[in-house]
Amino acid sequence: MNAEVEIFSPSEFDLAVAQKILARIGQTLQDAAACHLVLTGGSTPRGIYSQLASQKHEPIDWQRVHFYWGDERVVPPEHADSNFRMAKEALLDHLPIPQENIHRMRGESEPEQAAQEYAEMLGEHFANTLPVFDLILLGVGGDGHTASLFPGTSAVAEKQDWVTPVFVPKLKAWRVTLTLPVIKHAKEILFLISGSSKADIVQQILSLKKPTPQLPASLVQPESGNLIWALDEEAAALLKK
Ligand code: 6PG
Repeated sequence: MNAEVEIFSPSEFDLAVAQKILARIGQTLQDAAACHLVLTGGSTPRGIYSQLASQKHEPIDWQRVHFYWGDERVVPPEHADSNFRMAKEALLDHLPIPQENIHRMRGESEPEQAAQEYAEMLGEHFANTLPVFDLILLGVGGDGHTASLFPGTSAVAEKQDWVTPVFVPKLKAWRVTLTLPVIKHAKEILFLISGSSKADIVQQILSLKKPTPQLPASLVQPESGNLIWALDEEAAALLKK
């Protein structure tokens, strides 16, 4: 795995990662009219998003930042499991972001319809060419999934569609997710991984000689962009020094 690995102490992880994200947004806005940022779900990002929201930093022109999601649970936006709701509470409600810059996956719709609508929205924003996101945030589950690309599901192998619905047997639940062609096309991919429960999967993936669909996060190899794994010391505990 040719990822750039950055390790932070648990106490500094959220702030350090938030500062990396802010720096990337700032760099992007120096050269481009807008920054297209994909948020990840799960619990790890909550603290990072709160730091982003509270950061006393050089001003970011949030009017020029567009927010997307890497995946969504098929639940209404106000549901406790909604990735949109988590980001809204921790980040979006605290920043001056125009509503039209917030592009959520419609978890309240049928999964197929939600995926199709999201792909159509991406087509509008990226002139019907493969979307090029400036920064995609991702997490990793204990089984090696990322976004909602779960091992053994058809979503992992999807090569045509940009967005796909996926039924996850272990969760007995539907998800909607960006697919690898879109994720790999990003200018920068930043994995956010913390906690001792992730030490084993981090070691498994980062020590792979070659990517495997059994560990879908290992398949996230950008075509030409940067790949960064931001870990706290607990998640990095099993990595060779
Ligand atoms: C989701 C995420 C998922 C998440 C991992 C890690 O919808 O849950 O997109 O891919 O990033 O499951 O989740 P934690 O950060 O909660 O460990």
